[in-house]
Amino acid sequence: MPAGRPFTITTPIFYPSDVPHIGHGYTEVAADVLARWHRQAGDDTWLLTGTDEHGQKMLRTATANDMGPREWADRLVQQAWLPLLETLDIANDDFIRTTQPRHEQGVAAFVQRLYDTGFIEAGDYEGYYCVGCEEYKQTAELVAGTGKYEGQLVCAIHSIPVELLSERNYFFRMSQFTDRLLALYEERPDFVQPESARNEVVSFVKQGLADLSISRSSFDWGVQVPWDERHVVYVWFDALLNYITAIGFDGDEATLNRRWPAVHLVGKDILRFHAVIWPAMLMAAGLEVPRQVFAHGWLLVGGEKMSKSKLTGIAPASITDVFGSDAFRYYFLRAIPFGQDGSFSWEDLAARYQAELANGFGNLASRVIAMIGRYRGGVVPAAGDPSERDLGIREVVRTAAIEADLAIERMAPHEAIASIWRIVEELNGYLTLEEPWALAKRPEEAARLDAVLATAAEGLRALAVLLSPVLPKACAKLWTALGAGGALGLLADQPLRSAGDWAQLPAGTATAPLEPLFPRIEQEVLSA
Ligand code: MSP
Repeated sequence: MPAGRPFTITTPIFYPSDVPHIGHGYTEVAADVLARWHRQAGDDTWLLTGTDEHGQKMLRTATANDMGPREWADRLVQQAWLPLLETLDIANDDFIRTTQPRHEQGVAAFVQRLYDTGFIEAGDYEGYYCVGCEEYKQTAELVAGTGKYEGQLVCAIHSIPVELLSERNYFFRMSQFTDRLLALYEERPDFVQPESARNEVVSFVKQGLADLSISRSSFDWGVQVPWDERHVVYVWFDALLNYITAIGFDGDEATLNRRWPAVHLVGKDILRFHAVIWPAMLMAAGLEVPRQVFAHGWLLVGGEKMSKSKLTGIAPASITDVFGSDAFRYYFLRAIPFGQDGSFSWEDLAARYQAELANGFGNLASRVIAMIGRYRGGVVPAAGDPSERDLGIREVVRTAAIEADLAIERMAPHEAIASIWRIVEELNGYLTLEEPWALAKRPEEAARLDAVLATAAEGLRALAVLLSPVLPKACAKLWTALGAGGALGLLADQPLRSAGDWAQLPAGTATAPLEPLFPRIEQEVLSA
């Protein structure tokens, strides 16, 4: 098969200073659903994720745990961050760690290039630093501490005291890029999305950019600055480069050309790094800027960003252990309009699981497969001449598939799922109206029963393909029960952009029993 159009998507690389919570899981799942969609549509897809292992936050956490930073990172990556990908069924193509030689060499080559071309220079800096953000803060970004931090200035995001640092450092001459960045946002309105994020970035850059301190000499946990061994590269400058060091910078030009530029999915907390600093770095190096930076919202607890430092983090496995990974994926992408904040609640999750997954999709699939088994000996019948209602279902499937693909293109997975869900609702309504269980009692209605079961089976075929990026486990089970593998091949090979074309599952296909896709969850488990 010829390679389709390229689609590279990334998640932020996460600090493995601590274990992941569902906020991190949310980004992973969103990126994975978008990647699976594009992959299944035949695009030349690459999903990159990983861990950000240098910097003060990592060093301090490791030290507090009586370990070296590398050992600490190794332990957390093995025990928590790689398992997160299993827990959430993430089909990533690569996992980069910033301590890997491929990355460290790329960082050194990049900063050397900027130094050689005059974009990095030595200078002095004094300012308030937040280790939680790994960032110098403006006074306007600080607030008065309360409780044990009374009398101190604290970071508005982390609520921990900032530190006054004064350093002789190397600076990236970011101030030179103010106009070029503004021109970029103007020429490519899609570069930063959603609109609220774009507006924030534009008004920030309009104030003018300062140069950026990109080295540290007070500790040594980082990539050494190649021309000055007393300094290590600032953790954010190092981390952002993962997006290109993982795909061929510096040395594998062919891979870099194939995979770059990428779409970056980030939480809105780290928007400026990606939409301001990162494109400026790339411009300075003479490389293409990203294809898009998309900032999604925060998962909130009690109106505040869920975070480990505020002890509000919920472990992803506490959800998947009860509801399964498909439900996690579905819930967060369906319930929260992508780009906006969302409040997580167990009640809402349980209600949607029951109504939409178990009673909606799961029940539809099990009813249809069971009726084909009972009334037609487990063989998909021929559709015959379609009635108006049958034609109505075909039209719903056709338009839902088109609308879903358009929604994915505009980074609106919640709308894509809503479009596909119309098929679930319409098919359930169709069965209620057609009453195949009643038709089965009247031998003269045999042809009509055939048509209804064939229409429903074909609708399920389309649903299995369209929902597989969101619900990979359930759709794989459904594909097997439909017996679709024999005539159509692997589910993963079904071209997603033709999923809405009718009459793909042939008459005569042998179905197999279907175990419940979304089993009942006992009330005691929910209230435990
Ligand atoms: N290491 C940096 C990113 C470097 S990228 C070159 C970092 N890491 S982090 O571990 O703090 O993860 C931040 C990301 O986790 C956010 O951008 C977001 O994707 C995700 N989230 C963390 N908390 C979240 C919520 N409460 N809600 C949604 N996403 C959240 O910053």
